[in-house]
Amino acid sequence: MIAAVDIKITKIAQSKLSDVNLENIPFGKYFTDHMLEVDYENGQWGCVEIKPYQNISIAPSLAALHYGQAIFEGVKAYRNPSGEVQIFRPHDNFKRFNLSAERMQMPTVPEDIFMEGLKKLIQLDANWVPSQPDHSLYIRPFMFSTDEMIGVKPSDKYKFMIILSPTGPYYNTPMRIYVEEQYVRAVPGGVGYAKAAGNYGAAMHATAEAKKNGYDQVLWTDAFEHKYVQECGTMNVFFIIGNTVITPDLGAGTILAGVTRDSVMVVLKEMGFAVEERELSIDEIIQAHKDGLLKEVFGTGTAATISLIKELRYKDYVMEFDTDRWEFSNELKNRLNAIRYGTAPDNHFWMYKI
Ligand code: COI
Repeated sequence: MIAAVDIKITKIAQSKLSDVNLENIPFGKYFTDHMLEVDYENGQWGCVEIKPYQNISIAPSLAALHYGQAIFEGVKAYRNPSGEVQIFRPHDNFKRFNLSAERMQMPTVPEDIFMEGLKKLIQLDANWVPSQPDHSLYIRPFMFSTDEMIGVKPSDKYKFMIILSPTGPYYNTPMRIYVEEQYVRAVPGGVGYAKAAGNYGAAMHATAEAKKNGYDQVLWTDAFEHKYVQECGTMNVFFIIGNTVITPDLGAGTILAGVTRDSVMVVLKEMGFAVEERELSIDEIIQAHKDGLLKEVFGTGTAATISLIKELRYKDYVMEFDTDRWEFSNELKNRLNAIRYGTAPDNHFWMYKI
């Protein structure tokens, strides 16, 4: 049981909901009526406030802008057929948030602030949770350093916030992926396992280069040999080879421990697959393709859920797939969605009622 936290709530005078069409809504463009904000100073967290969504004022010397102590999470809330709103595995995101905080030398956020804050905020903006298929409320907790000082050191002050965004699917169509061999996302000992804002900024150049050549995202490979696959764009990646599903393991600290990744492994096992978390080389993937054993390839993430990959290019070797004929990733998505949208039993206790 977590301790109750005092939250100061100031409600918006007039909801903006009627200005927004919740159907086919683009990812991350609209925000709900309220947000949560709390500051850390003198070694402790201050008053937790929920207030109307608004701009914040920052100094040009704000430490986060200069040295990148900034982390975030992605969580989703779903509406079930009875109209109730439930959040998918928020405790797992809470734990990962604090792992990211520790790696970036930031204070951890107490569980009561994170969980009670999330719950209260969503209760207040529950009308914003869409009910259309494949739609949900994307929850974005984040924290950044707020010292107004440009000396390089861990900041003494921080701000933790939560904002909410009703959203439709992140990727609408199967993706074309370029296997990256020049740039790297993560190295052992680095911050690859953390949801640090800089990981996403640092990936943008390679992704832009791939996009110039008609690809949607890159498949990151290891920094030393560009041989072992890591993540795909902002997602974890899965390969169905024969009757086994393989996803890169988390051992080297180069891969984000995705909450969707973990859930997908559970559901795949329930579907009868052997699931292996291990090093997977691009050579093994190509060999499986040549042998006709590479059946389906997909990425997983909170925002992306399960995104099919229709083309994978490594140097001049192109692997093309007819995703219309795939069955397993679609069944996986349906099974996971049924739990999230409350049409199948929640046997794993993944759904958190608000
Ligand atoms: C997520 O899946 O929540 C992500 O963080 C990916 C992206 C929107 C940054």
